[in-house]
Amino acid sequence: MTKTTEGTTAKKANGRQKIAAMGDLHVKENGGNSYKELFSEISQAADILVLTGDLTDLGKPKEAELLAADLRSCSIPIVAVLGNHDYECGHVEEVKAIVKEAGVQLLEGQAVEINGVGFAGVKGFAGGFGRYMLGSFGEPAIKAMVAESVEETMRLENALRQVRSERAMVVLHYAPIPETVVGEPQEIYPFLGSSRLAETIDRFPVSAVVHGHAHRGTYEGRTPGGAPVYNVASHIEKPTGRPYALLEL
Ligand SMILES: [Fe+2]
Ligand SMILES: [Fe+2]
Repeated sequence: MTKTTEGTTAKKANGRQKIAAMGDLHVKENGGNSYKELFSEISQAADILVLTGDLTDLGKPKEAELLAADLRSCSIPIVAVLGNHDYECGHVEEVKAIVKEAGVQLLEGQAVEINGVGFAGVKGFAGGFGRYMLGSFGEPAIKAMVAESVEETMRLENALRQVRSERAMVVLHYAPIPETVVGEPQEIYPFLGSSRLAETIDRFPVSAVVHGHAHRGTYEGRTPGGAPVYNVASHIEKPTGRPYALLEL
């Protein structure tokens, strides 16, 4: 089953869309955290749900199945990217298949348009911020890490090139700016995101950026070019007072 632009939300095709955004669900195998009720609440509160990765805790297919079961109570279109945790067990292809089967439009360097809003999504990667970004120098392992960061940025660029609508939201797992990771130990900032993502975002007209990953970070920031950035990890305190943010685009 694929949730499309048709149906209950189509009536708002030319209007503003309420987008619920949330990251870092970390669904566990023991079923400790159920999102069933939250997803039905979100279906009432918003037109589109965006999940910013770490859907599962260890990337186990069983965890993805539990999430898929909870997602049955979500009646609005769902857009998502994966997070680093979704790769942990080495079963990422199975995890992807399960969430897609549950109706999630999984973005890995693509864009999708829903009710007039374009969503460009990619997981992103680590590498650090500003002048302290890790550079491609020295051992092959360091170069490989920088190459991965650059590659994710290029995937984001390709996704943004596909967006045709005036309103565009960038969906990431890793942070594109340091402002929204403030609250985390400064020593781990370079593992929480990369300014390369923001450099790409600022070359396109982007209405809003959402990410997760930095559980102890800060809700709001802006790219150097002025695009609003929201850390929507479920642990972050938000204006809604709920685990999800509500953004109107
Ligand atoms: Fe997380
Ligand atoms: Fe993460």
